[in-house]
Amino acid sequence: TPRARACASAAAALPARVGVVGCGQMGTGIAIVAARHPRLEVVALDAFPASLERSKAFVAEWAAKEAKKGRMSETEVADFLELLSFGSLKDEAFLRAVVPGLDFVIEAVSEDLEVKQSCYGALEAAGLREQSILASNTSSISITKLASQVSRPERVIGMHFMNPVPVMPLVEVIRGLRTDEATLQSTLRLCRAMKKEHSTSEDRPGFIANRVLMPYINEAVFALQDGVGTAEDIDKTLKLGTNVPMGPLTLADFIGLDTCLSIMRVLHRDLGDSKYRPAPLLVNYVAPGTRWALEMAQEPVTA
Ligand code: CAA
Repeated sequence: TPRARACASAAAALPARVGVVGCGQMGTGIAIVAARHPRLEVVALDAFPASLERSKAFVAEWAAKEAKKGRMSETEVADFLELLSFGSLKDEAFLRAVVPGLDFVIEAVSEDLEVKQSCYGALEAAGLREQSILASNTSSISITKLASQVSRPERVIGMHFMNPVPVMPLVEVIRGLRTDEATLQSTLRLCRAMKKEHSTSEDRPGFIANRVLMPYINEAVFALQDGVGTAEDIDKTLKLGTNVPMGPLTLADFIGLDTCLSIMRVLHRDLGDSKYRPAPLLVNYVAPGTRWALEMAQEPVTA
């Protein structure tokens, strides 16, 4: 039937094996939403044993919660756990056995150009196929720059997931200067398979999400610093006044103040406009030994 043919061609177009590199909070969430698709086999890789163990434990807990809430049957949980496997990025023999079979790799390691590029080098050395797609979950590094060290920059793309990945409906998709159309289309198919909406952004500092979100958060910190209101009043105003789930200071803590600061620094450096300067209070909060924004605002730290 036409429907069966359509299903078959959609299935053929989906990657069969997806690698997720980096099993932190983001990578674990990405692995979960990928393996929720009944035809995607997912291998999650990380260099650190403790990170792999935390990730496995989170996945098991997440699946148990879904089952308890009646959103997954026992068979679905068993299939899901079967589809999702873990391995060490440091195990070269394992990488050589697994990486050539990956059709699509999503990298979610730390936000550091060198770490990301050495990760791509390791994947290529382990036999990543030329036609396989390499997507980065970067929130602030240029996709074009990331692609520049890879043998097929046409196959490199940005897939910026939002935290918490299993809950947030959006993936921001970013084409680098050399990303080809086939790579974009495969990426959009994978987004749909993961049941995510997407938006597309040009490869500019902060893309769309952080170009808008981070100055908003930074401005909330400026408002706190200038004494416009207490942390509670700033958050309450935005939370109840604009119907967002968290006020900007709570959201800043949720994202991580170090991450917020580092993205502001990228916007400031790469767009060269003083309107992106990080709030000095944000810089202080990230200084070693200080604590989180809301706690800081309530209870000054003396040390
Ligand atoms: N992984 C999986 N599921 C999670 C989760 C996680 N890390 N954290 C929360 N959840 C789930 C909970 O299990 C719960 O699911 P059920 O309803 O099925 O039980 C659901 O999310 C809601 O959680 P809670 O009831 O505990 O709490 P809540 O209703 O206050 O929601 C929240 C929590 C989803 C985080 C919500 O506060 C929210 O949407 N906050 C804004 C998040 C946001 O803006 N994220 C984007 C940040 S920017 C970014 O990510 C990009 C960047 O580059 C910085």
